[in-house]
Amino acid sequence: MKIFNSVPLLLLPSIVSALPSELAEVELDTRACVSFKNPVTNVSGCCDVVTAQLFWIDIILGLGVCCPLGQVLDGFNCVAPPSNGSTCTGEPVCPHKIGTDLGIKYGHCYVLLSLNNNYLGHDSATKYVVNGENPGVVFRVCGDTTNCVTTADQYVTTNGTWYMQDQFGDPNGSGFGWLGGSGDLSIQNSSTALVMGGSTTCFGGSCAICINFPPGGAHAPCPLAPGQSHLGIAPNPNSCQNFYWQEVPCRSEK
Ligand SMILES: *[C@@H]1O[C@H](CO)[C@@H](O)[C@H](O)[C@H]1NC(C)=O
Ligand SMILES: *[C@@H]1O[C@H](CO)[C@@H](O)[C@H](O)[C@H]1NC(C)=O
Ligand SMILES: *[C@@H]1O[C@H](CO)[C@@H](O)[C@H](O)[C@H]1NC(C)=O
Ligand SMILES: *[C@@H]1O[C@H](CO)[C@@H](O)[C@H](O)[C@H]1NC(C)=O
Ligand SMILES: *[C@@H]1O[C@H](CO)[C@@H](O)[C@H](O)[C@H]1NC(C)=O
Repeated sequence: MKIFNSVPLLLLPSIVSALPSELAEVELDTRACVSFKNPVTNVSGCCDVVTAQLFWIDIILGLGVCCPLGQVLDGFNCVAPPSNGSTCTGEPVCPHKIGTDLGIKYGHCYVLLSLNNNYLGHDSATKYVVNGENPGVVFRVCGDTTNCVTTADQYVTTNGTWYMQDQFGDPNGSGFGWLGGSGDLSIQNSSTALVMGGSTTCFGGSCAICINFPPGGAHAPCPLAPGQSHLGIAPNPNSCQNFYWQEVPCRSEK
């Protein structure tokens, strides 16, 4: 029997107790073992889904992180649940070191709050909109559009760029999606994901990040009801769209 080093230690007692007979071992393997590969370490493993939870990063590629039951995914790390974990404090992220980074980290997940306290989400179709029909989309900040592990857990530098993985995805599609397109920006496949940048700022004492789409800026493409706005690319790099960024647990792909 193989015991992979990505299997949390707390699983070992149940695996060891299955040793008395080969039969029991086979039974355990088929009952509880779900194979996965950790995208950060590249170590393949087996997640005992009776005593642990497998968070899928990418189902098709078989990438995932196996966490003890009750923990959630903070980037690619298993942490205590939001109530007293590092995520979901409700505080907008601030630079770790002013002038050096934006405060957001590669591989970590966020919701974006507009200056008028409405979450960025989807409209009833696939466009991104502030104060739309389906607010509060969870985004993962990714350094690449495949497994999202590029410089995982590192802060995005002041002039760093990233892609936004949309963990809700296309309502009529499957899997996670990507923020991209043109005009009113919308849910895309990875091939048309847009590269993003940002600058730090603050409003009323709360840190914010004004996003842009390098080499251009960002701007609402068309008039909407007050309090609402779409996302769009602006030719002028000085133009940007402001959001408070709040860290939340990452979601498991279904
Ligand atoms: C994991 O595999 C990918 C592609 O196969 C490679 O680019 C990356 O460097 C590997 N990471 C580690 C930690 O081995
Ligand atoms: C975490 O939450 C649990 C349950 O609500 C509580 O018992 C514990 O004291 C909390 N720990 C911290 C460090 O806040
Ligand atoms: C999903 O498909 C239905 C039926 O074709 C369509 O009416 C709806 O607008 C689509 N929704 C999105 C978000 O594309
Ligand atoms: C940021 O941009 C400046 C000027 O374009 C450049 O000198 C600097 O090396 C860049 N820093 C990083 C971390 O890329
Ligand atoms: C993404 O790919 C799927 C399947 O290939 C396709 O049906 C869908 O139209 C694509 N979505 C976009 C926005 O290109």
